[in-house]
Amino acid sequence: MTEPVVEVHLTPADATAALRADVRAGLTGQPKWLPPKWFYDAHGSDLFERITRLPEYYPTRAERSVLVARADEIAATTGAHTLVELGSGSSEKTRLLLDALRRAGSLRQFVPLDVSASALRDAAAAIIADYPGLTVHGVVGDFTEHLALLPGDQPRMVAFLGGTIGNLLPDERAKFFGSVRDVLDPGEWLLLGTDLVKDPDVLVRAYDDAAGVTAEFNLNVLRVLNRELGADFDLASFRHVALWNAEHEWIEMRLRAERAMRVRIPALDLEVEFAEGEELRTEVSAKFRRERVTAELADAGFELRHWWTDEEGRFAVSLARATG
Ligand SMILES: C[S@@+](CC[C@H](N)C(=O)[O-])C[C@H]1O[C@@H](n2cnc3c(N)ncnc32)[C@H](O)[C@@H]1O
Repeated sequence: MTEPVVEVHLTPADATAALRADVRAGLTGQPKWLPPKWFYDAHGSDLFERITRLPEYYPTRAERSVLVARADEIAATTGAHTLVELGSGSSEKTRLLLDALRRAGSLRQFVPLDVSASALRDAAAAIIADYPGLTVHGVVGDFTEHLALLPGDQPRMVAFLGGTIGNLLPDERAKFFGSVRDVLDPGEWLLLGTDLVKDPDVLVRAYDDAAGVTAEFNLNVLRVLNRELGADFDLASFRHVALWNAEHEWIEMRLRAERAMRVRIPALDLEVEFAEGEELRTEVSAKFRRERVTAELADAGFELRHWWTDEEGRFAVSLARATG
């Protein structure tokens, strides 16, 4: 069997250096925060896959239903030779796109990119086993930094699914869209999945499930800090919080300290105080409206060609063409 090529732009040493910088900035700031990419060690990536199957977590099913309905149209419109997937995780839904591009006869190469080396390697191996003849070129990297180096024959379609775009803050989002546009030539494509603004109860339940899997996922970032930086976070003293921020139209995940404590982080030679009830923000997940997606894409040099939602209007998939 052919082996997938896996290129590493983010070595374990780079990842550790980036983690250290983020933890120092985030835990010495006020209010405290951490970027969501650090959830995704092998255990965190497995927990995310479990989240996608929870009854409360509708985004994966909703996005999948759009892809089932539209994959052939996407393939016919783009004629993509290369499918690049950013934040690819298990690439499960992506198979719908690969199948459609293969049916259309244009598919040559698949380029998944993820910060999680374990998820990337598992997905690349599974795809290459199931798609004989397909060149799979995985990239372990950070989609906020390593886009300029992406391989692949034109025309390319960059897929960014799962609503992961919502994890970026508005200024980070603008920068990200700009960097995707920079690597594409006019006429190439971006396929973007965005979760939509809806009843806050439905949203909060999606991030605070009854079985506690999302709570476990949220706490996993502390487990990563304990393992990678020798920190002594007591996970039992933090509680998962998910809330709707109506002003920004995003869900926030936080970890609330249930008691006052001092946490030691030896790798940074740092001690961090938490007051009782103090919250550490671990993720935002912005929810979108069509106007905002259209405007942000246009600002970056993309023309929105298609906007598809699931039947219940919960989640949108946009197909945008690089202009110029
Ligand atoms: C919400 S999950 C979505 C996974 C998959 N695309 C889906 O739709 O189910 C986010 C994925 O993006 C990856 N990720 C998060 N931040 C990243 C970053 N800065 N660079 C590259 N990958 C990142 C995570 O490892 C994870 O696989």
